[in-house]
Amino acid sequence: MKKITTIAICIATFLGACKTESNSNKNVKDPVLEKRVTNLLSKMTLDEKIGQLNLRGTSSRVRGSLPETLKQAVRDGKVGAFLNVMNKDYVDELQKIATEESPNKIPLIFARDVIHGFKTIFPIPLGLAASWDTEVAKSSSRVAAVEASSFGVRWTFAPMLDISRDSRWGRVAESPGEDPYLASQLGKAYVEGFQGDSLNDPTSLIACAKHFIGYGAAIGGRDYNTAIINKELMHNVYLPPFKSAFDAGSQTVMTSFNETNGIPASGDKHLLRDILRDKFQFDGFVVSDWNSVTEMIPHGFAKDEKHAAEIGLNAGLNMEMTSKSYENHVKELLNEGKVTEDQINELVADILRVKFRMGLFENPGRAQNTTEVLYAKDHLELAKDAAIKSSVLLKNKNNVLPLNKKTKIAVIGPLANKPREQLGTWTFDGEKEHTVTPINAFQNEKVDFKFVETLSYSRDKSEVQFKKAIQAAKQSDVIVFVGGEEAILSGEAHSRANINLPGAQEKLIKELAKTNKPIVLVIMAGRPITITNIVDDIDAVLMTWHPGTMGGPAIYDMIFGEKEPGGRLPITWPKVAGQLPLFYNHKNTGRPASSIEFVHIDSIPMGAWQSSLGNTSHYLDAGFTPHFPFGYGLGYTKFQYTNLKLSSDKISKDQNIKVTVDVENIGEKSGEEVVQLYVQDVVGSITRPVKELKGFEKIALKSGEKKNSFF
Ligand code: BGC
Repeated sequence: MKKITTIAICIATFLGACKTESNSNKNVKDPVLEKRVTNLLSKMTLDEKIGQLNLRGTSSRVRGSLPETLKQAVRDGKVGAFLNVMNKDYVDELQKIATEESPNKIPLIFARDVIHGFKTIFPIPLGLAASWDTEVAKSSSRVAAVEASSFGVRWTFAPMLDISRDSRWGRVAESPGEDPYLASQLGKAYVEGFQGDSLNDPTSLIACAKHFIGYGAAIGGRDYNTAIINKELMHNVYLPPFKSAFDAGSQTVMTSFNETNGIPASGDKHLLRDILRDKFQFDGFVVSDWNSVTEMIPHGFAKDEKHAAEIGLNAGLNMEMTSKSYENHVKELLNEGKVTEDQINELVADILRVKFRMGLFENPGRAQNTTEVLYAKDHLELAKDAAIKSSVLLKNKNNVLPLNKKTKIAVIGPLANKPREQLGTWTFDGEKEHTVTPINAFQNEKVDFKFVETLSYSRDKSEVQFKKAIQAAKQSDVIVFVGGEEAILSGEAHSRANINLPGAQEKLIKELAKTNKPIVLVIMAGRPITITNIVDDIDAVLMTWHPGTMGGPAIYDMIFGEKEPGGRLPITWPKVAGQLPLFYNHKNTGRPASSIEFVHIDSIPMGAWQSSLGNTSHYLDAGFTPHFPFGYGLGYTKFQYTNLKLSSDKISKDQNIKVTVDVENIGEKSGEEVVQLYVQDVVGSITRPVKELKGFEKIALKSGEKKNSFF
């Protein structure tokens, strides 16, 4: 890692001091706690120790009573934690057996993927990242924790902190986007929200920073695929968000499915020992991803299940999710001297330490007031607010938005009234019955509109209803087209090679454009959607991601100007998928792309002689710029930046610099701006990105109001 020596500061809209990496960790060892851990360990049998390393899945669909074998396993102390037990009675029953009948009465932890809400669903994490608002991230995860803990869940597999620079990857929906600084700020906020003020509060969910590491760097955006990450990128881009989550106290971390530089994460000793334990001083526990220990066999890293267990244990992976290589082979491996009892003790101690911190030995039960907290009024309000703050206005020709409330509207498109789809990926517990769609909201607000869905789902190719839609459009003042991707088109294992509007959506928009009525495109999707083919046919584009339970009312408020869309892109928006991976914080190359040198494919003369002279790093057809850059987003007012000042024009190693700028709302409406600070290390002993985000601040200004932002 190198320090900044010379910096160029850029505030087009942009600002913070460079945070230096420290090894500090909140989880400083507490002697009383360590004594409790050692005492308990000394009483445990080997079987019980192996049991603590087991994370068992039970299907939430188990019907009738719990299988006797499962109860017996808990009674024998052979399970450390469960995932997906979503029946409250089962949670109570299993915990009672563990804490009253197992040999050392060690409580279980119940886990669940509570990713962007439990019952009340917030925008997908990529949407929350677009809010550039750590309070939004924190409050959404607090709400999720309060609701989920009422079901006995005390461990969430979140936040996902995989930097992703390729929107073809389905899990980009779940990511914080492409920037390590923004992701680090969000990671901290999520951990604080999930874990709350105290780990032993019954509404606290222990966080799990995932996926450690490089999962978002999968080649070509193909899920589970190989990652190749050099040391510099590892330390400057991929690790910082995790470090930030650990500094905020994240108690657990999940290894990723992929291999990085030839080593699958679940068997990566350097990662799990040298970096995680020694450098980051992490003292919580490491959990594998689903079967990721035994998946080291198809990776070609382990020869069989026993070998996979040996590699995982030696790497320092504490708890195995769903596969059973530890349960099946630890004893044998001990007998053969492939692992030692001290190693097993150490792995178990990490888990017990967290269980003690969670207060489970004193209070293993569920948080009370079960039903009152689900979909509580304030939770719904926060979800609506988050949807507004996450939505990014990408285009607004002639200020077509906000619409006048008297406007006659044709609402068209496959996602205008799809309660389940608007929730997005990883929403096992959110219920469509509680979801308010744009159509519901328009009805509630008595908007003058006609709804012609036309396409019944986002991939629908049928043109049967086109005529009806065109007729409705002709009878209206404005068309509001709500389209995008169904929830299932992003998320785990759902990568796409083309990231345009699927089905006949583009075709329908082209037909609607012929009516000459203004078109407002509202996109619900798990990733940026390429709109190059239709952008000239539409007047406004509002990206709402998958906005969650309260997406409808949020969209109503934004479209009619009750509220302003507050989001800025947390990820570069490409013109075509062929540009991917595409990210703002790239290196310059020896032949940086420039508009002066750019040669478009159509301007190359026929029979041109081969020459590289004067050429730069670009695509002949797609150029070198994105459709919309990272950090971009419009509002309903305008801001002007003046008076940029630096406290010094030089900065040396370990020094700070103060940056100030005046921001004024020069439009007619009140509005919020995200002031962003970027720096460039112009010359270094290793090359540095052309721009790096190092600070941001969200400010609200009334018309004519001015504020001095400083970083
Ligand atoms: C995902 C994890 C998730 C786990 C448990 C895996 O397939 O990669 O992110 O936490 O399943 O549901």
